[in-house]
Amino acid sequence: MLGVTACGGGSNNERGHLAATKFGDLTHPVERGSPIDAIRAQCGSGALTEAGDVVHRRPYLQEVTTTSATIGWVTVDPAGERAILTTPDGSPLGEVLAVVEEYPQRLANEKQVWARITGLQPDTVYCYALGNGVAPLSEPTGFRTAPSATSTLPVRFIAFGDSGNGSLEQHELQEQMFTVPYDLMVHLGDLAYRSGTIGQFEDYVFAVYAELFRNLPFFPASGNHEYETAQGGVFRDVFALPPGEGNERWYSYDWGRVHFAVLDTEQDYATQAAWLDRDLELSTAPWSIVYFHRPPYSSGSQHGSDLPLREVLAPVLEKHRVQLVLAGHDHHYERTVPVNGTVYVVSGGGGRGTRPVGQSDFTAFSEQVIHFVQVEVGVEELVLHAIDGTGVEFDSLVVPRT
Ligand SMILES: [Fe+2]
Repeated sequence: MLGVTACGGGSNNERGHLAATKFGDLTHPVERGSPIDAIRAQCGSGALTEAGDVVHRRPYLQEVTTTSATIGWVTVDPAGERAILTTPDGSPLGEVLAVVEEYPQRLANEKQVWARITGLQPDTVYCYALGNGVAPLSEPTGFRTAPSATSTLPVRFIAFGDSGNGSLEQHELQEQMFTVPYDLMVHLGDLAYRSGTIGQFEDYVFAVYAELFRNLPFFPASGNHEYETAQGGVFRDVFALPPGEGNERWYSYDWGRVHFAVLDTEQDYATQAAWLDRDLELSTAPWSIVYFHRPPYSSGSQHGSDLPLREVLAPVLEKHRVQLVLAGHDHHYERTVPVNGTVYVVSGGGGRGTRPVGQSDFTAFSEQVIHFVQVEVGVEELVLHAIDGTGVEFDSLVVPRT
């Protein structure tokens, strides 16, 4: 059984959607600082050059591991598109020719390109610029590879769900994402409202988060709204996700001492529970975090707990002592008490409005609020901070490793 310290909390109440009114006993205040400044100080900001007006979707980092990374972008009429790699001190490391894909595309001459980079070292900053056979398309910027499994560095990430239709709230929350440090970004599904079209991905995902995506890897789960177009096909085309038997629908990856497993709650639960059981069996990481869209525990007015999901998933989570489960779908924040050793958090207030939330016997704290969560996993404890659209931390959670 895990020991869990709840900070903040108190009774639930109705209030404005952006600002928290509750300032609890936050004994582990979130560290403040930019997630991208350190990388940009070493490599640059990646501004587009004059020739770069052919870049219609800014570069974004995918599948970053200890030894590899994939950079995606969209360009018109590609001609030898490539990533030009250097060290932070400017020493050349070579060029990686991009693979061109024909779809999905909003305009007929737009092409998806992927530069897949291998042979890297763990926990190391690499600088990259975009180019084609003729000219540089961008100034250099950079990324950091994942730390090794033996690293004792803290692993920091943000998570949010239900983010996107370009609302003011989405943009205000996005601005707050520049105020706390982290190394990777997690999305809990429903990225591209209303129906996961390529235009909605361009306008409500890539355009909104371009400055973060350029320097930080993004590992999303798909939600029901993504499935309204081509059964989630656009989602799987615009993201390069770790391959495996889930075929980009469900997958897992490691970041330092943390094993992440991602499910697709639009697909069969039993199949994925069996996969997750095998996946967690193989993991030797001391921390396991599982995330997906539909919540097994929720007091939301719109959806509530997904009981069939809970029934098949909870025994697997309990068996493998998964410390934290993150979900979205209901547009609020909710943290449960530990349920057989696992804490479940709904973080569905990523920008697409909020809805009322009640309290259940499993609820430790719930709030109707636009927010994201920042999680820092150290050697001995995991600390989660919930941060609202004005930047105020309104709840936190500490899970010691036992
Ligand atoms: Fe949803």
